[in-house]
Amino acid sequence: MRIVLGVGGGIAAYKAASLLRLFTEAGHSVQVVPTEASTRFVGIATWEALSGHPVSTTVFDAVDTVNHVRLGHEADLIVVAPATADLLARAAAGLASDLLTNTLLMASGPVFFAPAMHTEMWNHPATQANVATLRSRGAVVMEPAIGRLTGKDSGPGRLPEPEDIYAAALAAAGEAGSAPAAGLLAGRRVTVTAGGTREPLDPVRFLGNRSSGKQGAAVAAAAVAEGAQVRFVAAHLEVPVPEGVELVQVETALELRDAVHDAVQSTDVLVMSAAVADFRPGENADTKIKKRDDGADPVITLVRNPDILAETVQNRSASGTGPSLIVGFAAETGDGSGSVLEYGRRKLERKGCDLLVLNQVGRSLVFGQDSTEVRILSPHEDPRIEPPALTGSKTDIARHLVERIAAELAGAPASSSTGAVPPG
Ligand SMILES: Cc1cc2nc3c(=O)[nH]c(=O)nc-3n(C[C@H](O)[C@H](O)[C@H](O)COP(=O)(O)O)c2cc1C
Repeated sequence: MRIVLGVGGGIAAYKAASLLRLFTEAGHSVQVVPTEASTRFVGIATWEALSGHPVSTTVFDAVDTVNHVRLGHEADLIVVAPATADLLARAAAGLASDLLTNTLLMASGPVFFAPAMHTEMWNHPATQANVATLRSRGAVVMEPAIGRLTGKDSGPGRLPEPEDIYAAALAAAGEAGSAPAAGLLAGRRVTVTAGGTREPLDPVRFLGNRSSGKQGAAVAAAAVAEGAQVRFVAAHLEVPVPEGVELVQVETALELRDAVHDAVQSTDVLVMSAAVADFRPGENADTKIKKRDDGADPVITLVRNPDILAETVQNRSASGTGPSLIVGFAAETGDGSGSVLEYGRRKLERKGCDLLVLNQVGRSLVFGQDSTEVRILSPHEDPRIEPPALTGSKTDIARHLVERIAAELAGAPASSSTGAVPPG
């Protein structure tokens, strides 16, 4: 599930860190949205580090991703803990004065509040009226626990224990009818990278590539359709972002590497279909590179980018943790010293990934096209047997790949015995 965790400005804000952990360890993707006041108790760095996502209190950060609309709209569940008297009042009044209250107004799924405040504040008719209003609109407002409060006093108003909030919030999500996902990848977390990276030369120019992101977007959509929770790490795309994914936008190879590094901590499958630049300009000029008066041509020195796929495989071997399945993509052209298939096999061995989707590329082949021809290579298959060429639309290929991924995860690699992918 995609969960928004709203954190209000109460002394119990620190307990929301344990609640966050419970959600993430159960495989949920959590976006923390603290109020400005709550950052006086627990800082943004804590939420970013624990959730693995950028965190903001305001609608004016990351405006291009339209967070104030998107977060509430995409969330399967919104949990506010601790919910202060002030937050309950703002939510009941329908105010949209910060990112959290905007998100609450945009909620399309269940909304859950775990209040915490002094007994007098909780018992105040204003607070009780706000709670009644929120409940009448379908929100679940938990009763606070009775016990020690901020000072020496005690009574009703204490934040319930994180385990209790966790169980009650998930029950609320169930009651609100969020049925568990079904499909070949139900309950699986899949990260898909897509598109072409752009490596800046100066503020206006970059080195890019011809990748449209079509194939990666199709894989992400096919994984969503099979019930997976999908994180979509998008470099430059010429196609829309698929519905139902958690979007992480990147530009350069180094940004993509960071996004993959964050994702592998909590993903079952990594599909590396982005076209990542092998090299980047050694210098990124602060100002536009100008034509020189003496007529001399500029010299651009390229430096190697890290090999993100090989690095991720190595980290998995070294740590013993990471995705169960790592899928690479290779776009190869044959030449005098090897066929496309030979280059693909060498690449599979070099990278050490579990599956390699091999494309033959050329100026008019693969990039930006709707249909394609691929072979899926596995280190476990007999190299003397040529894997069949699969032809079809990128959507067909994506569906086939997702079926293959599901079979590999189930420990029964499907043998790709037919070359034609069934249409539609
Ligand atoms: C030390 C301290 C502890 C506080 N604890 C609470 C609390 O537990 N519950 C509450 O409703 N307000 C509490 N407040 C008051 C809120 O911080 C204040 O109402 C603030 O405006 C809440 O903003 P928010 O609802 O936007 O997070 C506390 C304030 C301080 C200084």
